[in-house]
Amino acid sequence: MTSFPTALGLSAEQTANVVRLAGLAPSLHNSQPWRFRLMPHAIELHGDPQRRLPIADPDDRELRLACGAALLNLRLALEHTGVRPVVALLPRLAGQTALAEVRGGGQMKQLSEEQDLYRAIPERHSNRRPFLETPVPTEHQHALAVAVQREQCRLHVMERQELGTLEGLVHRAHRVQMADVRFRDELARWTGRPKDASEGVPAAAAGPLPEPQDQWVLRDFSGGQSRARVPGKDFEYEPLLVVVCSHHDSRLDDLHAGQAMQRMLLAATARGLASSLLSEVVEVAETRDELRRFLGGEPYPQALARIGYGSPTRATPRRNVKDLLISD
Ligand SMILES: Cc1cc2nc3c(=O)[nH]c(=O)nc-3n(C[C@H](O)[C@H](O)[C@H](O)COP(=O)(O)O)c2cc1C
Repeated sequence: MTSFPTALGLSAEQTANVVRLAGLAPSLHNSQPWRFRLMPHAIELHGDPQRRLPIADPDDRELRLACGAALLNLRLALEHTGVRPVVALLPRLAGQTALAEVRGGGQMKQLSEEQDLYRAIPERHSNRRPFLETPVPTEHQHALAVAVQREQCRLHVMERQELGTLEGLVHRAHRVQMADVRFRDELARWTGRPKDASEGVPAAAAGPLPEPQDQWVLRDFSGGQSRARVPGKDFEYEPLLVVVCSHHDSRLDDLHAGQAMQRMLLAATARGLASSLLSEVVEVAETRDELRRFLGGEPYPQALARIGYGSPTRATPRRNVKDLLISD
């Protein structure tokens, strides 16, 4: 790939590959709200204002989470090529949309734990289908919490006795959102997409059509294209639900939380675990606030994830790597 610009002393092919891997991060409705400026001495990561979701995410908090996740992938991919990434978050000189600047800090050999995370990048997919009842072993839960701490955030693993309150909040948030025609329109624009669309959620990735007895997976990503549920194939009764929390609630914290969320999702993938995100409760301001108080008042809930053992799922498409570049 000779026509691809280069950065940080990498070849064109290596540069394209690190940007492509960054772009495999999860994002709300697969909006892929990131752009990259490649320079010989740095890679800048920018939020893409054209890809905002103003109704679900009016403050761009989830846009920054997604970009944080892309940043973690970029760091892992650079390490894999032997470049030590040195990251500055919210670099002022790079302009208003800049979220991070990554420079090369010399050569390095990637540690084996990070190699596992690197290998998990293309294997991680949102899995909206029912998981097995098999519980996630405590040592895996611990590893997920450590992954989140490594990125300066905290993981709250929901206890069995906390699930009732959480479920109430999730359903309330879902009702609030679905009562808003602007939310429904935005969701409809980004979901139920054909298989070959390079953005948005394809109907095939939607999971089964929500049914009244469902406790956690409430959003319909199929754009109303019904898929018969296999009889008796209900969602697991007691899922492992975890909340990634940041210590404060600033733009910087959102970027830390995005990296923490992605490190956790990759750590789960590397351990053979499936995951999906359930965001309504942290998107509606009132329920996010109530959840924060319920969790003890101090940490700020950023992402709620369901983790477990699931059937394999396919990758959701991404845009062409060349379309992710800012060309001045
Ligand atoms: C901040 C954020 C919030 C998300 N919220 C939800 C959600 O509420 N429900 C859901 O099923 N997926 C959610 N997702 C997952 C995206 O839909 C998914 O990442 C995207 O479609 C790309 O698919 P992939 O994760 O399989 O690569 C969220 C992702 C991010 C980063």
